[in-house]
Amino acid sequence: DVNWKLEDHPKLPKGKTIGLIVLDGWGESEPDQYNCIHKAPTPAMDSLKNGRPDTWRLIKAHGTAVGLPSEDDMGNSEVGHNALGAGRIYAQGAKLVDLALESGKIYEDEGFKYISEAFEKGTVHLIGLLSDGGVHSRLDQVQLLLKGFAERGAKRIRVHILTDGRDVLDGSSVSFVETLESELAELRSKGVDAQVASGGGRMYVTMDRYENDWTVVKRGWDAQVLGEAPHKFKNALEAVKKLRSEPKANDQYLPPFVIVDDSGKAVGPIVDGDAVVTFNFRADRMVMLAKALENEDFDKFDRVRFPKIRYAGMLQYDGELKLPSHYLVSPPLIDRTSGEYLAHNGVRTFACSETVKFGHVTFFWNGNRSGYFNEKLEKYVEIPSDSGISFNEQPKMKALEIAEKARDAILSGNFDQVRVNLPNGDMVGHTGDLDATVVACEAADVAVRMILDAIEKVGGIYVVTADHGNAEDMVKRDKAGKPALDKEGKLQILTSHTLKPVPIAIGGPGLSAGVRFRQDLDTPGLANVAATVMNLHGFVAPGDYEPSLIEVVDK
Ligand code: 3PG
Ligand code: CO
Repeated sequence: DVNWKLEDHPKLPKGKTIGLIVLDGWGESEPDQYNCIHKAPTPAMDSLKNGRPDTWRLIKAHGTAVGLPSEDDMGNSEVGHNALGAGRIYAQGAKLVDLALESGKIYEDEGFKYISEAFEKGTVHLIGLLSDGGVHSRLDQVQLLLKGFAERGAKRIRVHILTDGRDVLDGSSVSFVETLESELAELRSKGVDAQVASGGGRMYVTMDRYENDWTVVKRGWDAQVLGEAPHKFKNALEAVKKLRSEPKANDQYLPPFVIVDDSGKAVGPIVDGDAVVTFNFRADRMVMLAKALENEDFDKFDRVRFPKIRYAGMLQYDGELKLPSHYLVSPPLIDRTSGEYLAHNGVRTFACSETVKFGHVTFFWNGNRSGYFNEKLEKYVEIPSDSGISFNEQPKMKALEIAEKARDAILSGNFDQVRVNLPNGDMVGHTGDLDATVVACEAADVAVRMILDAIEKVGGIYVVTADHGNAEDMVKRDKAGKPALDKEGKLQILTSHTLKPVPIAIGGPGLSAGVRFRQDLDTPGLANVAATVMNLHGFVAPGDYEPSLIEVVDK
């Protein structure tokens, strides 16, 4: 039984309105021409950085500090918001899958047993993001799974690939397909009928999130399940090379394709009796497909056929919805999040972002749970994102609308915590369009100003931080930190996140005089923020939370 009652903080008062801002994809890096945050006018964020030095600092947002396997793993929004909300560091999906594969436990658990029932008579399909980005999936894990399935009786394997170019360099899809193809050839040499069946770019096919645009999932369904797509190829390498050669084509947005045999028939539609595994460990961009594959009742698009399959996710993607019901590896059990504690202690919370990041400040923040802890105390507002565009076309996104909602919530006096995610630095940074990313960063900064002004008016406290880096470094660099050129001598634009730390700033008229950042913490990270925020609400954080970043000295 959990004791939800939080102790009163010995020195800090309750009842201050806290504006909690997460700038998505906003790290701290050298000020040069590839640092779009530096290039953009950002007076609000600059004023925080240049304010009291003991109320601004950097914290870690990548690697083991957020539960990723190694220090080479860049941060991402899932693990970042999990850490921010949960106040503790959990071994995350990437790591849990590594462990399960290493120990072989993945093949002993219920999920594998369930799908392997189909190995004798059916085909096993693997669907997911093909890259080594480590954000949603990892190719080396897929390679191990393919081998493991074949060794355990899979006779016919079909892989449905989604090309990346967002967590990895654009153009890298070609070499990932080569790696996959040689793995499949190896299996064929051992008598397994294994090949790629379909594909498409992750942002255009399958991997939408938070129900922003179901047509994305439908395009994938048509190719993967029905075996229908506008483009048909004999093999995946040819497909990716040809589609990439079209003007303006990139890995993220490749159109859907199917692989066909000599008679022109799709080689791998999903049919009754087959098994399906979605091999992404990260939830947000798999939930919609999981619903389409699993839910009897489904009205988001016409599935045409709803095959009777044995479906398992790499992980369970939504603990609240129990979706999917079968999975290969148990997800991190993130419990007793700060949101749940605060709800039990009467703190009234408002959370808001636009669709593409809405689940970040709700679902991920709350330990991968959709829904409220206490409907009477919480209000979550989603502002619809533009859909069907790449965000460099609208770099301001809905930053202003999010800030206005936050401002109104703060001024209303109805909430103790007003939490937002400002998506611009990240969503536009992922497009690799530097000019647009500069505009994006300026827009986020304007939104910050509006929220800070509202906090000022009500005598509240602000906490401004970020979930991981992105917009502060837009070029691939060599070991010495200089821009790295490719074989043709060209700069390689970095669409992905970074390994950089992120800023955190606290302040506002409600901040008690003696509050400052402690100096004695050894490289704190995002997980230290939850206890900090609990303190600012007037509570002591639970004993197993990562320590608070602040101390109160007598003034
Ligand atoms: C995405 O899903 O858009 C990227 O892979 C990661 O971005 P996020 O972690 O910032 O959402
Ligand atoms: Co991102």
